[in-house]
Amino acid sequence: MEKVKVYKMTTDDVDEVFHLEELIHPTHHWSKESFYSELSNKLARYYCVKNKDNKILAYIGVWFIFEEAHITTLAVHPEYRRLQLAQILIIQTVKDCYNEMIKYITLEVRESNVNAINLYEKFLMKSIGVRKNYYQDNGENALIMFTENIWYDKFKNNFFQMQNNIKKVEVLYV
Ligand SMILES: CC(C)(COP(=O)(O)OP(=O)(O)OC[C@H]1O[C@@H](n2cnc3c(N)ncnc32)[C@H](O)[C@@H]1OP(=O)(O)O)[C@@H](O)C(=O)NCCC(=O)NCCS
Repeated sequence: MEKVKVYKMTTDDVDEVFHLEELIHPTHHWSKESFYSELSNKLARYYCVKNKDNKILAYIGVWFIFEEAHITTLAVHPEYRRLQLAQILIIQTVKDCYNEMIKYITLEVRESNVNAINLYEKFLMKSIGVRKNYYQDNGENALIMFTENIWYDKFKNNFFQMQNNIKKVEVLYV
């Protein structure tokens, strides 16, 4: 079983994260400067997943604003998908939310991105509206997805179950 660690992204990771970003989103990726700028944004937190060879397999970015956490980016290396790495990064985010008394988690997702929508629905997120022509590259609509209040039992019980179901990799949260 692959051993992975989850840790806070630093400026030393930006080159590798950027290569991954280009690989995953060839036509509409973030710039290196965006990552550098996000890493100095006090409201933002970025995490990576690395394997034992120190290869970055996945990353997530989140803004914490008042009572909401807004997921800004989430991506997993194409060769390492379906290993629960995205779930692991969302679990890390939810833990941060509990530590910081956040109530809701939200994000925008392309309406055609069924894989990501399935992922968010596992965390009981629901689409509450649409931003028309949100994506500049192809004019696609974004679904706005929200959790319910994460302090409610329904969310918590599901979250604990999600944590217990991480079985495809061995995770160390640093
Ligand atoms: C979407 C993405 C982040 C999922 O990452 P992942 O690590 O492979 O996802 P996980 O293994 O944690 O899977 C979690 C759940 O997501 C859903 N999912 C993920 N990939 C899927 C696929 N190919 N088909 C259907 N559902 C899928 C499933 O519900 C899955 O749960 P299951 O394995 O129990 O069925 C990844 O495919 C990716 O990086 N895509 C490109 C970037 C992107 O779309 N980011 C999201 C932007 S909003």
